[in-house]
Amino acid sequence: MGHDKLRKFAENETFSCLLQPSAQEVLARGYFNLQDHAIKGHWNERMFARPAPIVLELGCGKGEYTLDLARRHPERNYIGVDIKGARLWRGAKTATEEGLPNVAFLRTRIEFITAYFAPGEIDEIWLTFSDPQLGSENLRLTSPLFLNRYRSFMRPGGIVHLKTDSRFLHEYTRAVVEANGLVMPACTADLYGDGGISREERPELFEVQTFYEKMFLAQGYKITYLSFCIDHEGDFVYPTDFDAAYWRSVEGPRKFVQVP
Ligand SMILES: C[S@@+](CC[C@H](N)C(=O)[O-])C[C@H]1O[C@@H](n2cnc3c(N)ncnc32)[C@H](O)[C@@H]1O
Repeated sequence: MGHDKLRKFAENETFSCLLQPSAQEVLARGYFNLQDHAIKGHWNERMFARPAPIVLELGCGKGEYTLDLARRHPERNYIGVDIKGARLWRGAKTATEEGLPNVAFLRTRIEFITAYFAPGEIDEIWLTFSDPQLGSENLRLTSPLFLNRYRSFMRPGGIVHLKTDSRFLHEYTRAVVEANGLVMPACTADLYGDGGISREERPELFEVQTFYEKMFLAQGYKITYLSFCIDHEGDFVYPTDFDAAYWRSVEGPRKFVQVP
C-alpha cells in the first residue's frame, strides 16, 4: 500500500465523524444473520447529538453530495457510506475542517447496511453514480435485494434518488420501479438537456457534481436522474421485461480520466 493511502488511513482513525466498524463484528453470526451494530437506532443521539431527519448517500466516494446537501440543509443530518477508506478520508477531512455538525461517514459494504439502521431511522437515500454492475443484478444498488434492505429502515414515504451516467442502470431501475408499482415523482434520461426538471426547484441536482460525474460528463455521457418512493407491501419483485442485452449494448466504454 502506498504512503499516501497509509497516511489517510491513519488520519481516518482521528475523525470523530467517521465510523469504521470491522466486517468481522457484523459477520460474527454469519452473512445471513448480521450482528447489529451498537449505533443502530441511535445515530441522532450518539453521532449528531440532536434529533433531525437522516439522509444517506450510498457509494458516496469522496462524499461531495453528502457535504453539499449538508451545507444546504443544516436542519438535516447526513451520512455518506462507502467501502473505500481513502475516498472517505476526503469527505471526513472536509467535514472536520469545516466543522460541519450534521455530517458523518460510515465505512462498510452496503450489503451490510441493515446492521446499522433501525426501522424508520432513515428519511431519504441518494445513490450517486453507482456502479451499474452490468452482469450481476443482485449487486446493483437498486435491485429488489437492495430495496428490501433499504425498506427495513426507511420511514414511510421515504424517497430514493438515483443520479447516474449509466443509461443501463437508469432503465433497469425504472423497470424495477414499474414492476413494483412504486410512485416515481421524477425521471429524466437527460438532466442537463430538456429533462423537464426545474433548476430553480431542484438546484442540488444541477449544482452538485461529484468526482465521477465530472469524469463522465467530460466523456460526453448524458446524466440521468430518477426518484421513487420506497413504500411497498410484501417483497420487491424482479422486473421481467428489462432488455438487459439491449441496454448493455448502448452503455459505451468509460475511461478513468483526470478532470479539474
Ligand atoms: C463510481 S463510484 C461513485 C462515487 C461517488 N458517488 C461519485 O459520484 O463520485 C462508486 C462508489 O461506490 C462504492 N461502492 C460500490 N459498491 C459498494 C458496496 N457494495 N459497498 C460499499 N461501497 C460500494 C465504491 O467504493 C465507489 O466509491
